[in-house]
Amino acid sequence: MLLTEAARLAEIDLDIPCGGQGRCGRCAVIVADGEGVRCRSTVRLSAEDLTAGYVLACQTVVEGDAVVIIPPQEKIERRLVTDKTAGEIALPFTYDPQQHQPMRLMSLTIDPPTMHDQTDDWSRLKRSMATTFDVLDLVADLDTLRSLASTLRQADWTVTAVVETDTWDRPEGPPRLVDLLPGGQMQHLWGVAVDIGTTTVSVYLVDLLTGEVVAKAAEYNGQIRRGEDVISRIIYASKNDGLAELESLVVATINEVIQRAARRAKVDPGEIYKMTVAGNSTMIHLLLGLAADSIRLDPFVTTINHPPPVRASQLDIAIHPQASVDCLPGVASYVGADISAGVLGSQMCDSEATSLFLDVGTNGETVLGDCDWMISCACSAGPAFEGAGVRDGMRATVGAIEEVWINSQTYEPTYRVIPDLRLEARGQPTPPRGICGSGLISLLAETFITGLIDKAGNLNFDAGSPRIRQGEHGPEYVVAWEGETEHGRDIVFSKVDIDNLIRAKAAIYAGFTVLALSVGTDLSTVDQVLIGGSFGQHINIEKAIQIGLLPDMPWEKFRFMGNTALQGALLALLNRGVRRQVAEVARRMTYLELSSDNTFFDAFTAALFLPHTDLTSFPSVAEVLASREDEP
Ligand code: FES
Repeated sequence: MLLTEAARLAEIDLDIPCGGQGRCGRCAVIVADGEGVRCRSTVRLSAEDLTAGYVLACQTVVEGDAVVIIPPQEKIERRLVTDKTAGEIALPFTYDPQQHQPMRLMSLTIDPPTMHDQTDDWSRLKRSMATTFDVLDLVADLDTLRSLASTLRQADWTVTAVVETDTWDRPEGPPRLVDLLPGGQMQHLWGVAVDIGTTTVSVYLVDLLTGEVVAKAAEYNGQIRRGEDVISRIIYASKNDGLAELESLVVATINEVIQRAARRAKVDPGEIYKMTVAGNSTMIHLLLGLAADSIRLDPFVTTINHPPPVRASQLDIAIHPQASVDCLPGVASYVGADISAGVLGSQMCDSEATSLFLDVGTNGETVLGDCDWMISCACSAGPAFEGAGVRDGMRATVGAIEEVWINSQTYEPTYRVIPDLRLEARGQPTPPRGICGSGLISLLAETFITGLIDKAGNLNFDAGSPRIRQGEHGPEYVVAWEGETEHGRDIVFSKVDIDNLIRAKAAIYAGFTVLALSVGTDLSTVDQVLIGGSFGQHINIEKAIQIGLLPDMPWEKFRFMGNTALQGALLALLNRGVRRQVAEVARRMTYLELSSDNTFFDAFTAALFLPHTDLTSFPSVAEVLASREDEP
């Protein structure tokens, strides 16, 4: 049995950030005592670690009793941009629930049965709906019927029906009775829009009668501990009962954020009657308990791109059990509902301007187009920009270096750390623990622009800086000395990290290039670059251009859109027309599979330099480099 499985059986929650592939080295534990403990791989462990008795829990087989010491697990501190009280959210339409909303509250006073009228309760309710609201047909699930008789009698035949008039897969109805409430004057009708990010789950709690977002909440996706990126999670899901575990972890997170938002707004979650969900294809599969293996295996197909709505009770989502949970449609394995919702949320699909929409992350999903056409791709950039696969990389949480400046004369760095608010309140600086994605972009740009690395990412030992040295895994630049850091060891930026980042940025830039080429144009015709995703908000445009991650354009062409997937889920929650539109967007978006595209390989190879082999495409960077050469 693997040590990770033994830990789970002992109900010990061990971090498994790469899903147990032996890639990340962060499941390391110390075997203090134990016969028959075999570690199959130690690739991520240093000689020092091995001497200290460390093994990788995910690669270690235990065949008998063992004493294992688990070091403190990485803390996940909050830095969630969506986790705030509700503010004004501007809708791109004037909300009219009668016109836009398929959910209705219908107050009724029904004639009770008599010996002369022994019509059954359900027919009596339907008759009343027909005469009062002109609703000529009505369906209900068995669970709703079970409480029908008692509700009607306890309410003395004055009730409010919660009715869903249509869904995208049943545009003609018939209407569905979702709940029957005693009394006649309901003031609110609640719904939730949910974005399941690989890292963060965010929700908006909305009054469907007014369109007002009354509360927001966000929390780290509970699946993170079983894999930080989608591939790690797919691998984890394919083992033993991993799929069921990941499903219950994300459901628990969703329930927690809904509860938190509901508590803030003083709403009973059981009165939430509708939910829309955006998320990448893997997240949607894991929510629905669908096997996700085929997403990662050639020819990379999903089980379903556009799942039908399901009842909340089928997924154990703790809102009203009969509420419909509507997962928005995706386009392909790596262009999921988060991107179709994002295109909608950013309003790119309504604009005549040629837009480049991108979500900088593991999969670098990109869409090029306007209101008439759209083409998309995903370029597997890897998780480097999320801090994974980088020696001192970490998520954007407390203690992460998020911005770096390097003095071009002394090569000494200055950095900004995401603060621990408790330390900040006491006027104390937060010691760094690692470097997050925005810090890595910044560091790559600064080392390049100051000449500490060349265009191929080689460290310049001739610079004479004591911070450049030969490390355990090759050349490295010391960003923070051990005395400055929280863990008491140097934080470094190594040649291996640099190569990983250059490959990641090259994949994303190559994706832009190939999309443009496929429609016979080039990036100069792009009118605006829309940056979605939570990571996007932290990117420094100047530095992202300097490393060749973003095209060299005037800064005013770039727009940070925030969590476009959540905005898209909100619009789809509030407007049945928009809900149909998102299906249409997903249906007509052309998907370009880059792994079978030769031009992608050429574009990728050309982008494997800083900023690019073709410096004429990056005039502003050429100018900065020229001015550096002129410096005394
Ligand atoms: S190396 Fe074990 S979980 Fe990553």
